[in-house]
Amino acid sequence: MTRLLYHLHDGLPRQAPGSDESTCEALRRLPEAKGRRVLDIGCGPGRSALVLAAEPKVAHVTAIDIHRPYLDHLTAAAAARGLGERVTARRMSMAKMRFAPASFDLVWCEGAAYFLGIRESLEAWRPLLAAGGCAAFTELCWLVPPSQRPRETVEYWVKAYPAMRSSRLHQQTARAAGYRVLGTFALPDRDWWDEYLAPLEARMELLAAEAARSRTLSRLMAESRSAIALYRRHSRSFGYVFHLVSRV
Ligand SMILES: C[S@@+](CC[C@H](N)C(=O)[O-])C[C@H]1O[C@@H](n2cnc3c(N)ncnc32)[C@H](O)[C@@H]1O
Repeated sequence: MTRLLYHLHDGLPRQAPGSDESTCEALRRLPEAKGRRVLDIGCGPGRSALVLAAEPKVAHVTAIDIHRPYLDHLTAAAAARGLGERVTARRMSMAKMRFAPASFDLVWCEGAAYFLGIRESLEAWRPLLAAGGCAAFTELCWLVPPSQRPRETVEYWVKAYPAMRSSRLHQQTARAAGYRVLGTFALPDRDWWDEYLAPLEARMELLAAEAARSRTLSRLMAESRSAIALYRRHSRSFGYVFHLVSRV
Protein backbone atom coordinates (compact mmCIF):
# COMPACT_ATOMS: atom_id res chain seq x y z
CA MET A 1 0.00 0.00 0.00
CA THR A 2 1.22 3.49 -0.71
CA ARG A 3 1.83 6.11 1.97
CA LEU A 4 -1.25 8.09 0.89
CA LEU A 5 -3.45 5.00 0.96
CA TYR A 6 -2.36 4.38 4.55
CA HIS A 7 -3.08 8.04 5.31
CA LEU A 8 -6.56 7.77 3.81
CA HIS A 9 -7.28 4.66 5.90
CA ASP A 10 -5.66 5.95 9.09
CA GLY A 11 -7.80 5.37 12.18
CA LEU A 12 -10.38 3.15 10.46
CA PRO A 13 -11.39 0.12 12.53
CA ARG A 14 -10.77 -2.14 9.54
CA GLN A 15 -8.93 -1.91 6.26
CA ALA A 16 -11.32 -4.21 4.39
CA PRO A 17 -14.92 -5.40 4.80
CA GLY A 18 -15.42 -7.71 7.75
CA SER A 19 -16.84 -7.90 11.27
CA ASP A 20 -16.16 -9.56 14.60
CA GLU A 21 -19.30 -11.65 13.97
CA SER A 22 -17.96 -13.00 10.66
CA THR A 23 -14.57 -13.75 12.22
CA CYS A 24 -16.36 -15.73 14.98
CA GLU A 25 -18.59 -17.45 12.44
CA ALA A 26 -15.58 -18.58 10.39
CA LEU A 27 -13.86 -19.87 13.53
CA ARG A 28 -17.03 -21.67 14.59
CA ARG A 29 -17.18 -23.48 11.23
CA LEU A 30 -13.65 -24.85 11.58
CA PRO A 31 -12.99 -28.21 13.26
CA GLU A 32 -12.80 -28.03 17.05
CA ALA A 33 -9.24 -28.04 18.35
CA LYS A 34 -7.77 -26.79 21.57
CA GLY A 35 -4.64 -24.69 22.01
CA ARG A 36 -4.53 -23.39 18.49
CA ARG A 37 -1.47 -21.43 17.51
CA VAL A 38 -2.75 -18.83 15.04
CA LEU A 39 -0.92 -16.75 12.46
CA ASP A 40 -2.88 -13.66 11.31
CA ILE A 41 -1.35 -12.42 8.05
CA GLY A 42 -1.80 -8.79 6.95
CA CYS A 43 -3.52 -8.15 10.28
CA GLY A 44 -3.99 -4.39 9.76
CA PRO A 45 -5.11 -2.65 12.97
CA GLY A 46 -5.89 -6.09 14.35
CA ARG A 47 -9.62 -6.65 14.67
CA SER A 48 -9.47 -10.31 13.69
CA ALA A 49 -6.38 -10.92 15.85
CA LEU A 50 -8.19 -9.50 18.90
CA VAL A 51 -11.28 -11.60 18.31
CA LEU A 52 -9.20 -14.75 17.82
CA ALA A 53 -7.03 -14.08 20.89
CA ALA A 54 -10.15 -13.77 23.05
CA GLU A 55 -11.35 -17.25 22.00
CA PRO A 56 -10.69 -19.85 24.72
CA LYS A 57 -9.66 -22.48 22.16
CA VAL A 58 -6.94 -20.21 20.79
CA ALA A 59 -3.65 -20.36 22.68
CA HIS A 60 -1.72 -17.60 20.94
CA VAL A 61 -1.99 -15.26 17.95
CA THR A 62 1.06 -14.11 16.02
CA ALA A 63 -0.04 -11.18 13.85
CA ILE A 64 2.11 -9.84 11.03
CA ASP A 65 1.88 -6.74 8.86
CA ILE A 66 4.33 -4.41 7.14
CA HIS A 67 2.79 -1.22 8.54
CA ARG A 68 4.28 -0.50 11.97
CA PRO A 69 1.45 1.80 13.22
CA TYR A 70 -1.08 -1.02 12.81
CA LEU A 71 1.12 -3.35 14.85
CA ASP A 72 1.51 -0.75 17.60
CA HIS A 73 -2.23 -0.23 17.63
CA LEU A 74 -2.85 -3.96 17.93
CA THR A 75 -0.31 -4.37 20.74
CA ALA A 76 -1.92 -1.52 22.73
CA ALA A 77 -5.47 -2.80 22.09
CA ALA A 78 -4.50 -6.34 23.14
CA ALA A 79 -2.95 -5.03 26.38
CA ALA A 80 -6.04 -2.89 27.10
CA ARG A 81 -8.23 -6.00 26.77
CA GLY A 82 -6.00 -8.10 28.99
CA LEU A 83 -4.86 -10.14 25.97
CA GLY A 84 -1.27 -8.87 25.88
CA GLU A 85 0.19 -12.29 26.65
CA ARG A 86 -1.84 -13.93 23.92
CA VAL A 87 -0.91 -11.66 21.01
CA THR A 88 2.48 -11.04 19.40
CA ALA A 89 2.52 -8.38 16.67
CA ARG A 90 5.52 -8.60 14.34
CA ARG A 91 6.62 -6.51 11.40
CA MET A 92 7.12 -9.04 8.64
CA SER A 93 6.20 -9.36 5.00
CA MET A 94 3.89 -12.16 3.95
CA ALA A 95 6.27 -12.63 1.03
CA LYS A 96 9.20 -13.41 3.35
CA MET A 97 7.84 -15.14 6.41
CA ARG A 98 10.42 -16.47 8.82
CA PHE A 99 8.71 -19.21 10.79
CA ALA A 100 9.70 -22.81 11.37
CA PRO A 101 7.71 -25.46 9.49
CA ALA A 102 4.49 -26.58 11.22
CA SER A 103 4.58 -23.61 13.63
CA PHE A 104 0.85 -22.94 13.41
CA ASP A 105 -2.47 -24.75 13.62
CA LEU A 106 -4.43 -22.02 11.91
CA VAL A 107 -3.55 -19.35 9.35
CA TRP A 108 -5.92 -16.38 9.24
CA CYS A 109 -5.94 -13.74 6.51
CA GLU A 110 -8.75 -11.20 6.11
CA GLY A 111 -8.60 -9.14 2.94
CA ALA A 112 -4.84 -9.40 2.46
CA ALA A 113 -4.02 -12.60 0.55
CA TYR A 114 -4.39 -10.76 -2.76
CA PHE A 115 -1.15 -8.89 -2.12
CA LEU A 116 0.72 -12.13 -2.77
CA GLY A 117 -1.98 -13.85 -4.84
CA ILE A 118 -4.32 -16.61 -3.69
CA ARG A 119 -2.34 -19.53 -5.10
CA GLU A 120 0.96 -18.08 -3.91
CA SER A 121 -0.49 -17.45 -0.44
CA LEU A 122 -1.94 -20.94 -0.09
CA GLU A 123 1.38 -22.43 -1.17
CA ALA A 124 3.32 -20.26 1.28
CA TRP A 125 1.00 -21.11 4.19
CA ARG A 126 0.95 -24.89 3.76
CA PRO A 127 4.42 -25.67 5.17
CA LEU A 128 3.72 -23.41 8.15
CA LEU A 129 0.68 -25.48 9.13
CA ALA A 130 0.94 -28.47 11.43
CA ALA A 131 -0.78 -31.70 10.34
CA GLY A 132 -4.53 -31.13 10.26
CA GLY A 133 -4.01 -27.37 10.34
CA CYS A 134 -6.52 -25.01 8.75
CA ALA A 135 -6.54 -21.70 6.94
CA ALA A 136 -9.27 -19.07 6.73
CA PHE A 137 -9.13 -16.16 4.31
CA THR A 138 -11.43 -13.58 2.79
CA GLU A 139 -11.13 -12.52 -0.80
CA LEU A 140 -13.01 -10.21 -3.14
CA CYS A 141 -14.88 -12.49 -5.57
CA TRP A 142 -17.46 -12.45 -8.31
CA LEU A 143 -20.72 -13.68 -6.78
CA VAL A 144 -22.53 -14.28 -10.09
CA PRO A 145 -21.53 -16.08 -13.32
CA PRO A 146 -19.97 -14.07 -16.17
CA SER A 147 -23.25 -13.78 -18.09
CA GLN A 148 -24.88 -12.02 -15.12
CA ARG A 149 -22.10 -9.55 -14.35
CA PRO A 150 -23.23 -5.98 -15.06
CA ARG A 151 -21.07 -4.45 -17.72
CA GLU A 152 -19.89 -1.54 -15.59
CA THR A 153 -18.67 -3.93 -12.88
CA VAL A 154 -16.67 -5.93 -15.42
CA GLU A 155 -15.20 -2.76 -16.91
CA TYR A 156 -14.32 -1.46 -13.46
CA TRP A 157 -12.76 -4.63 -12.00
CA VAL A 158 -10.82 -5.63 -15.08
CA LYS A 159 -8.81 -2.46 -14.50
CA ALA A 160 -8.92 -2.20 -10.68
CA TYR A 161 -8.36 -5.87 -9.85
CA PRO A 162 -7.84 -8.07 -12.93
CA ALA A 163 -7.05 -11.10 -10.72
CA MET A 164 -10.60 -11.11 -9.32
CA ARG A 165 -12.19 -14.57 -9.67
CA SER A 166 -15.19 -16.52 -8.46
CA SER A 167 -14.93 -18.38 -5.16
CA ARG A 168 -15.33 -21.64 -7.09
CA LEU A 169 -12.01 -21.00 -8.86
CA HIS A 170 -10.28 -20.23 -5.55
CA GLN A 171 -11.62 -23.49 -4.18
CA GLN A 172 -10.09 -25.34 -7.15
CA THR A 173 -6.83 -23.51 -6.52
CA ALA A 174 -6.93 -24.53 -2.85
CA ARG A 175 -7.44 -28.20 -3.74
CA ALA A 176 -4.56 -28.08 -6.22
CA ALA A 177 -2.36 -26.51 -3.51
CA GLY A 178 -2.99 -29.42 -1.11
CA TYR A 179 -6.04 -28.35 0.90
CA ARG A 180 -9.52 -29.68 1.52
CA VAL A 181 -12.25 -27.05 1.20
CA LEU A 182 -14.33 -27.07 4.39
CA GLY A 183 -16.74 -24.32 3.43
CA THR A 184 -17.26 -20.77 2.25
CA PHE A 185 -19.65 -17.93 3.03
CA ALA A 186 -20.10 -14.45 1.61
CA LEU A 187 -19.71 -11.57 4.04
CA PRO A 188 -23.04 -9.81 4.60
CA ASP A 189 -23.67 -6.31 3.29
CA ARG A 190 -23.33 -4.81 6.78
CA ASP A 191 -19.70 -6.07 6.90
CA TRP A 192 -18.96 -3.62 4.09
CA TRP A 193 -20.69 -0.65 5.63
CA ASP A 194 -20.49 -0.67 9.41
CA GLU A 195 -16.75 -0.81 9.98
CA TYR A 196 -15.32 -0.11 6.56
CA LEU A 197 -17.16 2.00 3.99
CA ALA A 198 -19.08 4.22 6.43
CA PRO A 199 -15.91 5.09 8.43
CA LEU A 200 -14.05 5.56 5.13
CA GLU A 201 -16.70 8.02 3.93
CA ALA A 202 -16.45 9.89 7.24
CA ARG A 203 -12.65 9.95 6.95
CA MET A 204 -12.90 11.42 3.43
CA GLU A 205 -15.13 14.21 4.76
CA LEU A 206 -12.44 14.94 7.34
CA LEU A 207 -9.71 15.03 4.70
CA ALA A 208 -11.65 17.24 2.26
CA ALA A 209 -9.56 20.38 2.96
CA GLU A 210 -6.30 18.45 2.63
CA ALA A 211 -7.52 16.85 -0.61
CA ALA A 212 -8.20 20.32 -2.02
CA ARG A 213 -4.44 20.96 -1.70
CA SER A 214 -3.23 17.53 -2.88
CA ARG A 215 -4.06 16.34 -6.34
CA THR A 216 -2.90 12.80 -5.53
CA LEU A 217 -5.05 12.52 -2.42
CA SER A 218 -7.98 14.02 -4.27
CA ARG A 219 -7.59 11.44 -7.04
CA LEU A 220 -7.31 8.61 -4.53
CA MET A 221 -10.47 9.78 -2.80
CA ALA A 222 -12.31 10.06 -6.11
CA GLU A 223 -11.31 6.45 -6.86
CA SER A 224 -12.57 5.34 -3.46
CA ARG A 225 -15.86 7.15 -3.99
CA SER A 226 -16.28 5.44 -7.39
CA ALA A 227 -15.66 2.04 -5.81
CA ILE A 228 -18.20 2.78 -3.05
CA ALA A 229 -20.78 3.95 -5.60
CA LEU A 230 -20.21 0.80 -7.66
CA TYR A 231 -20.71 -1.37 -4.59
CA ARG A 232 -23.92 0.52 -3.75
CA ARG A 233 -25.31 -0.25 -7.21
CA HIS A 234 -24.07 -3.84 -7.60
CA SER A 235 -23.51 -5.43 -4.20
CA ARG A 236 -25.11 -8.66 -5.42
CA SER A 237 -22.55 -9.12 -8.19
CA PHE A 238 -19.33 -9.05 -6.19
CA GLY A 239 -18.36 -9.36 -2.57
CA TYR A 240 -15.93 -10.75 -0.04
CA VAL A 241 -16.06 -14.49 0.57
CA PHE A 242 -14.64 -16.32 3.58
CA HIS A 243 -12.86 -19.50 2.50
CA LEU A 244 -12.19 -22.21 5.07
CA VAL A 245 -9.70 -24.92 4.15
CA SER A 246 -7.67 -27.60 5.90
CA ARG A 247 -4.26 -28.98 5.03
CA VAL A 248 -4.50 -32.42 3.46
C1 LIG B 1 -6.82 -4.63 3.02
S1 LIG B 1 -5.81 -4.55 4.45
C2 LIG B 1 -6.63 -5.72 5.54
C3 LIG B 1 -6.18 -5.55 6.96
C4 LIG B 1 -6.92 -6.37 8.02
N1 LIG B 1 -6.76 -7.79 7.81
C5 LIG B 1 -8.37 -5.99 8.05
O1 LIG B 1 -9.21 -6.79 7.60
O2 LIG B 1 -8.65 -4.88 8.53
C6 LIG B 1 -4.35 -5.41 3.95
C7 LIG B 1 -3.24 -5.39 4.98
O3 LIG B 1 -2.12 -6.10 4.45
C8 LIG B 1 -0.96 -5.41 4.80
N2 LIG B 1 0.10 -5.79 3.84
C9 LIG B 1 0.30 -5.34 2.59
N3 LIG B 1 1.36 -5.96 2.02
C10 LIG B 1 1.83 -6.80 2.96
C11 LIG B 1 2.93 -7.71 3.01
N4 LIG B 1 3.73 -7.86 1.96
N5 LIG B 1 3.12 -8.43 4.12
C12 LIG B 1 2.33 -8.28 5.21
N6 LIG B 1 1.27 -7.44 5.23
C13 LIG B 1 1.03 -6.71 4.13
C14 LIG B 1 -1.33 -3.95 4.76
O4 LIG B 1 -0.44 -3.16 5.53
C15 LIG B 1 -2.73 -4.00 5.34
O5 LIG B 1 -2.72 -3.87 6.73
